Amino acid sequence: MLRIGVMVSGGGTNLQSIMDNIDSGAITGAEIAVVISNNPGAYALERARNHGIEAVCISPKSFSDREAFNETLLEKVNEYHLDLIVLAGFLVRIPPKMIEKYRNRIINIHPSLIPSFCGVGCYGLKVHEAALKRGVKVTGATVHFVDEGMDSGPIILQKAVEVKPGDTPEILQRRVMEEAEWKILPKAIQMIADGEI
Ligand code: GRF
Repeated sequence: MLRIGVMVSGGGTNLQSIMDNIDSGAITGAEIAVVISNNPGAYALERARNHGIEAVCISPKSFSDREAFNETLLEKVNEYHLDLIVLAGFLVRIPPKMIEKYRNRIINIHPSLIPSFCGVGCYGLKVHEAALKRGVKVTGATVHFVDEGMDSGPIILQKAVEVKPGDTPEILQRRVMEEAEWKILPKAIQMIADGEI
């Protein structure tokens, strides 16, 4: 059984899609051991608890400096003996020590077709604003391994999504989630559970 830790900062719809896929049997051989958030108000924590999954918050605001936060975060992650860490809308930079220790065992979902609309400062709605501003006709989502860079690790899966006339960043964000993110993130987890990657 692949033990997964899901790291979140917000609403947790991607977390929900993973839980739903496990429940329906679309993902087999994997279980969520813990959900970790940096944000105490993240609805994702509630989604996890409603599902009987352990949910933990470690807020950087409770620490005197980033180093102390990073150490506690890594200690917490280590406690769960995870095989895979899934960043599902986690808005905190992963500490270098964690990347080193869990190399090729941390994956992230990004709401664009990398290498477009990614990198430092390009997250959340900003990604879709940038895509609309540039006038692309196709966008999408990417699941990739996490390395020391920002959105620069090896790509696992991508799925394209059409941009439609009249799209706002919010409408496009929702379509990218529904048509791409909620599909390719569970699929990537299944591929890893099956040893295909
Ligand atoms: C998603 O768009 C994801 O691609 C990005 O952050 C958002 C998280 O949404 N990294 P949710 O919390 O899973 O609803």
